[in-house]
Amino acid sequence: MYIPRYALPRPDRLHDHSIIHTDCLVIGSGIAGLYSAIAASEHMNVMLMTKDTLRASNTQYAQGGIAAVLAEDDSPSQHKADTIMAGAGLCDEDIVDLLVRESPRMIDQLMSYGVLFDQQHGRLALTKEGAHTHRRILHCNGDATGAEIVRGLTETIQNNERITIHEHTYAIDLLTQGHRCYGVIAQEKTGRDIVVLAQSVVLATGGIGQLYSYTTNPFIATGDGIGMALRAGAELQDMEFIQFHPTVFKNKQGQGFLISEALRGEGAVLRNIRGERFMPQYHDLAELAPRDVVSRAIFNEMMATEQPSVYLDITQHTEAWLSQRFPTINAVCREHGINMAKNLVPVAPAAHYAMGGVKTNRHGETNIDGLYACGETACTGLHGANRLASNSLSESVVMADRIVKKIVEKNDTQVGSPPHLETLLYGADSAKIYASSDNKFRSDKIQNIRHTLQTLMTSHVGVERQASELQEMRTHIEASMHDVYQHLDSRVERREESSQQIIELTNLLSCALLCTVSAQSREESRGGHYRRDFPHTREEWRTHLIYQRDEHGYLKGRRKNVSSKMEKTY
Ligand code: FAD
Ligand code: SIN
Repeated sequence: MYIPRYALPRPDRLHDHSIIHTDCLVIGSGIAGLYSAIAASEHMNVMLMTKDTLRASNTQYAQGGIAAVLAEDDSPSQHKADTIMAGAGLCDEDIVDLLVRESPRMIDQLMSYGVLFDQQHGRLALTKEGAHTHRRILHCNGDATGAEIVRGLTETIQNNERITIHEHTYAIDLLTQGHRCYGVIAQEKTGRDIVVLAQSVVLATGGIGQLYSYTTNPFIATGDGIGMALRAGAELQDMEFIQFHPTVFKNKQGQGFLISEALRGEGAVLRNIRGERFMPQYHDLAELAPRDVVSRAIFNEMMATEQPSVYLDITQHTEAWLSQRFPTINAVCREHGINMAKNLVPVAPAAHYAMGGVKTNRHGETNIDGLYACGETACTGLHGANRLASNSLSESVVMADRIVKKIVEKNDTQVGSPPHLETLLYGADSAKIYASSDNKFRSDKIQNIRHTLQTLMTSHVGVERQASELQEMRTHIEASMHDVYQHLDSRVERREESSQQIIELTNLLSCALLCTVSAQSREESRGGHYRRDFPHTREEWRTHLIYQRDEHGYLKGRRKNVSSKMEKTY
């Protein structure tokens, strides 16, 4: 499948564009982007670009908490062992070492930016989640950790003169020449294009949950950073590993509302429609087994009982305790007529987190100079095949801190002289352009393609996969990509209202292609990738899968050994 270099096939034909220079451009305003912007502003001028409001992000919805070793009976080596166990043999051990060592310091940093963590008996309160052997999850306002982190960081940013905030500004494509990134082409809400030239670019655009029909992720999670990075020649790693959160409640609008794993950490158990507790049959850790294990067990029970859900039972706690410890979840359940102290909550697995993403090293650097990736968009190798609960928020801040240190060390703080803009836009890379098509791509057509993609990804590249379905999915994606790219070539002549919608669709299709191709290649089951036709883990597959767009526009893949000093620990 040919992948064009730009989502805008003639980026040289920008509309009424202006050019902005900055030292550091941060794309995305979740925890990774907000933290990177604050840290970078201590050394340079920063532009923070985000496609919706500052607060629209996955981070805003994080519930359970952020993992860091603070308890006296806990240790970094325990946190490391738990992370590696959950990661099913695919975690890069040197990155795990970094996380467990540096996350306690980052909690202090977050508090210095005004984030208020819950306290108990005068100390930071710590809870437990799946596959953690110790209480090491800090939380805010009970179950509203993300919202409090976003509040603290956005208030810090809004008072910072070195950070320029551009809300409702949609990053479309990275500008590169040779092996260097020089900035980005973006579009403002008004439809006006902007070209931002920066010495360093931090991609912090979050996850890809919108690839699936049923997800915990909000509308912003359309894999834009992964799509942009792929087109620009960056390496993408571990894209077959998707985490399905086991306990998601369908709200009145049919959207997924997360019922935090912290409920199971506080003793909640899972029951099937017959009222039977089933998790002890599947794993020694029962409800606190790694997420992939719990999600597959629930999926099995749903199939066996022919039901759309199983049930979470936390009725051993009182109403008063539940409303104090889990105020948000309690309120949403109440809105739906469920009193958690008395009733069971119907739950099913939903797409939640992408373990894969833009491949980085331990400093957040990608294979393109000047381009860094941070947060869910990145793949550092920390999570392996399955992320340990609450390690995502910790990873984002640990890596943001390291990225800024690296930028400063490389003395990337002054804007150099990028090549002439036209050279960048016309660059040798712009390659083949699709033939024009006069068909007007209406919004309902975009919606249809997106809806079918989500339905098929759920059934064919979901909790379980197999060769025939993966091949069908690949054929479908390639046909849809062809259709969309043909249209894109004509669209640039007439700015249609659907610009952002169609580029998001292009990015979702790119992510779908990467997930499917990687899942086809990996002939084994491991963590968030389960193949019905290869149900066992195979030692020879203890490798990362890396894909990249080659210089002719086609996907090329390679395998890389996991960095590990440990013997088989999963
Ligand atoms: P996000 O927070 O998703 O931010 C991405 C940003 O990029 C957004 O501002 C978005 O608008 C912007 N953006 C995207 N594309 C573009 C573009 N083209 N141009 C400009 N801007 C763009 N993890 C934990 O560790 N603990 C938890 O308790 C926890 N609970 C969770 C609960 C829920 C419901 C969900 C969905 C996730 C949870 N996670 C949790 C996972 C964690 O929240 C995310 O992995 C993490 O917040 C990702 O942060 P981020 O900064 O990388 O991305
Ligand atoms: C949860 O609260 O269950 C989500 C935690 C996470 O995704 O890390």
